Amino acid sequence: MKTFKRYLITSALPYANGPIHIGHLAGVYIPSDIYTRYLRMKGVDVISVCGSDEHGVPITIKARQEGVSPQQVVDKYNDIIKQSFKDFGIAFDIYSRTSSKVHYQTAAEFFRKLYDDGAFIEKTTEQYYDQEVGQFLADRYITGTCPHCSNERAYGDQCEKCGTSLNATDLINPSSTLSGSKPVLKETKHWFLPLDNYQEFLEKWILEDHKEWKNNVYGQCKSWLDQGLQPRAVSRDLDWGVPVPVDGATGKVLYVWFDAPIGYISATKELTPDWEKYWKDSETRMIHFIGKDNIVFHCIVFPAMLKAEGSYILPDNVPANEFLNLEGDKISTSRNWAVWLHEYLVEFPNKQDVLRYTLAANMPETKDNDFTWKDFQGRNNSELVAILGNFVNRAMVLTQKYFEGKIPACNALTDFDKETLAEIPKIKEAIEQNLEGFRFRDALKEAMNLARLGNKYLADTEPWKLFKDQPERVATILNISLQITANLSILLQPFLPFSAEKLRRMINLNECDWNRAGASDILAIGHQLNQPELLFDKIEDDVIDAQLAKLQATKVANEKASAKVEPLKGNITYDEFSKMDIRIGTILEAERVPKTQKLMKLLIDTGIDKRTVVSGIAEHFTPEEIVGKQVSILVNLEPRKIKGIESHGMLLMAEDIDGKLRFVQPGEKVENGSTVK
Ligand code: MF3
Ligand code: ZN
Repeated sequence: MKTFKRYLITSALPYANGPIHIGHLAGVYIPSDIYTRYLRMKGVDVISVCGSDEHGVPITIKARQEGVSPQQVVDKYNDIIKQSFKDFGIAFDIYSRTSSKVHYQTAAEFFRKLYDDGAFIEKTTEQYYDQEVGQFLADRYITGTCPHCSNERAYGDQCEKCGTSLNATDLINPSSTLSGSKPVLKETKHWFLPLDNYQEFLEKWILEDHKEWKNNVYGQCKSWLDQGLQPRAVSRDLDWGVPVPVDGATGKVLYVWFDAPIGYISATKELTPDWEKYWKDSETRMIHFIGKDNIVFHCIVFPAMLKAEGSYILPDNVPANEFLNLEGDKISTSRNWAVWLHEYLVEFPNKQDVLRYTLAANMPETKDNDFTWKDFQGRNNSELVAILGNFVNRAMVLTQKYFEGKIPACNALTDFDKETLAEIPKIKEAIEQNLEGFRFRDALKEAMNLARLGNKYLADTEPWKLFKDQPERVATILNISLQITANLSILLQPFLPFSAEKLRRMINLNECDWNRAGASDILAIGHQLNQPELLFDKIEDDVIDAQLAKLQATKVANEKASAKVEPLKGNITYDEFSKMDIRIGTILEAERVPKTQKLMKLLIDTGIDKRTVVSGIAEHFTPEEIVGKQVSILVNLEPRKIKGIESHGMLLMAEDIDGKLRFVQPGEKVENGSTVK
């Protein structure tokens, strides 16, 4: 296997059009952070870069919706995102942004190099153009009727009702969301990266040379390659982004997926003048942490760009994760179906590690996975509190009690002691192997196995029963328990950095060197411990119930918002319509029908007669407020008995999507008996 001198870790640049949620964390940033922390602790030369992805159409749409500039949108979310990462201990060496000067320059130079080398093809295509606004329209700015399902509100890139991806020219009756006008097709020139020219190279590089990539990643790449790669446009007609650095390209910017990955390079440049060492030396191992929707860009498009440029290395691995769901449903920003990091910290102050732990334990490594609040509570109460916290606490408290908090001497070792100690380096190695294979869940499980080992060791040796008769034996047991504790404070650091650090403060350990872990003499005899504190505390049911109630409220709000306007009914003839005799009448009397919730008995002056009508409106109005109101009534509906009362006709009501009822009334007062036609 190839050996490397240094590592360059990249994490997908989050779009700066919304805050960060647990899906982002579990999919990309927790694995990247665990991996980077592990390498750093081993003393490896590693840098980890990230930043905000600040271009692209969705940001311009968000800006328009909020009535602010795109720059204001990205400024706002860049701050929020950056803070969330900091709060959760996601320790990038730099968190930059693609609106930075360095990035504009780097991206433009990159494009220009490819342009000068003749790596692009230029093509003139027809694109929709809004004549009123004088702008080409991104696919998302066009709506119309879906040719597949007749949804009238499909977008130019996708119909959200039937899920089909569309071209804007597929839409029936297209209209511009900027002005509402009908867009026209107009010629425009763009630059395309001919991915087909890189097909052969990519096939060899991925399918033959990187068989070790995760199945989900390798499989997706293979399927793209099997379909045959096509040229891809790398420019857009948009006024937000890096301008295409070519004469005569006014109004054109680099496609966001062209400039964003270059953001990794710009961030590295901002971090260190030595950036080329990380990007251009084959002894650097580059690893991209991403979610599955980014695979094609990181395994095919960006490598083709880097290859075309010629002086850069390619990623050695792209351990993409699948998606995390929330309580069984897909996480969605627009439906607010998410646990937002900034909100979590308000509701669970100082509990970053509980979330980090739950997300790492449920990481969607090989398939989509689910976050549930019950699981979160269980992980905290029965793993962090009951296993890890409990073990550490017992070891510390007993040492305070019997030995004034000083590490006691290790005396004669039993076979069980020796077996227990021999487990420590084995567990360390298992963690390493799992981390190096990007199996984070297994790595964490192994680390927790060390706490389990400690717990079992104390349960089996029961030092609290022995002190009176065998103080030397108790000394040995506690020494061993504290060496396990010290190992935990190192081995858990990549996963639970806040708690591991707290633990090291408690045991008064200043170093945190991975290479030290595995040993049984991390804490010297006589070393003074600090006072124990609780590492984790129990999370009660009511706290979890409150979170579930919050999600339930979101669900109800979404259902209301998405309740559909009634679909169109089939056509009827005029004759059929004209059979209905609808009149305007006035309510003379109203009373609730006893023993019913919904029914009201009304006396109505129809202009022809005064008649009784039973109507299902009692949940919406009181009798007092409706007496005297004019209403529309279908008078030739066959009489029928309702709750023993004969009803002669039916009131016409307007029902909105919330189910609220209102009377259908004439715009101004008319004679009773007036007809409605
Ligand atoms: N902003 C993209 C997303 O959230 C990821 C960009 S990754 C980069 O899906 F490589 F382009 F930077
Ligand atoms: Zn459709």
